[in-house]
This record gives sequence, C-alpha cells and structure tokens, in this order.
Amino acid sequence: MEVIIRPNAERAARLVARLIARAIQAKPNLVLGLATGRTMERVYGELVALHQHTGLDFSHCTTFNLDEYIGLPKASPFSYHEYMRRQLFSRVNLHPAQTHLPDGMAADLDAECAHYEDLIRAAGGIDLQLLGVGSDGHIGFNEPLSALRSRTRQKALTPATLAQNAPYCGGDPDQMPRRAITMGVGTILEARHCLMLATGQSKAEILARAMEGPITAMVTASALQLHPRCQIIVDEAAAVRLQGQNYYRWIFETEPEWAPYQEDPQL
Ligand code: F6R
Repeated sequence: MEVIIRPNAERAARLVARLIARAIQAKPNLVLGLATGRTMERVYGELVALHQHTGLDFSHCTTFNLDEYIGLPKASPFSYHEYMRRQLFSRVNLHPAQTHLPDGMAADLDAECAHYEDLIRAAGGIDLQLLGVGSDGHIGFNEPLSALRSRTRQKALTPATLAQNAPYCGGDPDQMPRRAITMGVGTILEARHCLMLATGQSKAEILARAMEGPITAMVTASALQLHPRCQIIVDEAAAVRLQGQNYYRWIFETEPEWAPYQEDPQL
C-alpha cells in the first residue's frame, strides 16, 4: 500500500483523475470500478475536463459501481444511478450498455447480487477500483463487521452512514433507504488495482485507523492493507493523524513512479 499526500482536495482529486486517465490510455478497454459520494465529485469533474480538453476516450471502457440503495427507483434524484448519470455518464463517451450498477429495485435482490458478481467475472474482473472511505471506515457500503471475504450482497446501513449521507438524500436520515446492495470486501480486494481518495479533516481519524491500525472487520477499509497494489491519495487535512506522514511525502518526492507528477503545479 502506498499513501500519497497532496496539498489540498483539488490537487488530490486531480491526481486521482490523472491516474485513472493513465490507466485508460494504457488499456483502452479498462474495466473500471466506480464509487459515489461527495469526495468523488471532484474526480468526475476532472475526468470530464480530461475528456473534453484532451480527448480522453472512455468508449471502450466498462464500469461497475460499488453500490446502490435498495428501494430507490433508478430515476430518483437520490439514487446512485442518477448520481452517476449526472456526474459522469452523461458527460463522457461511455456506452450506456457498458456501465453497471446493482439494481436496488430488483424483485429478487439476492439473485441480483449473484448476477452482479457474474457480470464482473464475465468482464474479466475489475482492473482499477476507485474507492472513498465512510466516516465509519466503510468501503462501498461494507459497514463495520462486514466479513473481509464478503461478496456482493444486501447490507443494512449504520446510523453513522445514514447521518453522513442524509444531506445528499433529501436531508432527513429517517427518510433514507436503510439498506443497500454493495460489492463485498472480498469482491473489492479482487480488483487488480485499488485507488482510494480521502479528503478533509473529518476523515483524518478513520483514515489513520484504516491505514495504520490493525486489519479489522470493524473498519473495512483496513482490509486494503492486504491488497498487493493499492494507492491511497489524501490531502493534508485528511493526513494529519497519519504517523508515517514524512515517509509518505518522501515517497512522492523521490520514487521514480511519481516522477511524471512531481513537478506539475496542478497536482
Ligand atoms: C459510495 C461509496 C462510499 C463512499 C463513502 C464516502 O459509492 O462507496 O464508500 O465512498 O461513504 O462518501 P463521501 O465521499 O460522501 O464522504
């Protein structure tokens, strides 16, 4: 695992977008795992800008989102289908048939979860999985005590997650869907490359527990410590509780892998 610290949230998101763009350029038919949430909005804004200004081509890519609420129609303004349409799908040249989210309205939700795993497998697995981290340490909607080998399934959301997401779901935690379909921790760990973005001081404490604490199902993001190729991009505000800050800065400044990005004032 590598942690990279950038001066602010804009530059951290821009670096994430540039890493995604480089992966698409290296493999135009990339299978890309996507996340939602406030942190990702900047990443999608940057990807749209790269598409518009540099011709970044998504036409051969396939995407799989991490999760969707159960019981919200796709067209609901609060669904993740609609979030993705607004933030990315309607603004770049992804083929609609090649974008996938779980269907939270499926009549048989367990069958939908199994089908989603089949679709990922049939696409050859996920090359690059984009991730955020919740205030309770979740990745996807893998709430505390999610099995670290879990697969795509239904999950009850924690009160902390309902409170975190209520402002983007009409404001009232009591009116929010209580359950979601989410890729499992095991599903996420099978992606060939994981790329997490965490920004803002509100994530500092949980980020330190996830990256530098023990691997525990209580903080499912800590399972990323097991992943052979995982990059965590954070801003200074989210990094304040990390014990290894100086080492992480030194990695970005000196490792040849980061040379293409070191001198870029936008990153
Ligand atoms: C949503 C998802 C979640 C979010 C996390 C952080 O698809 O995967 O794990 O990444 O809840 O959300 P924000 O960015 O809103 O703080």
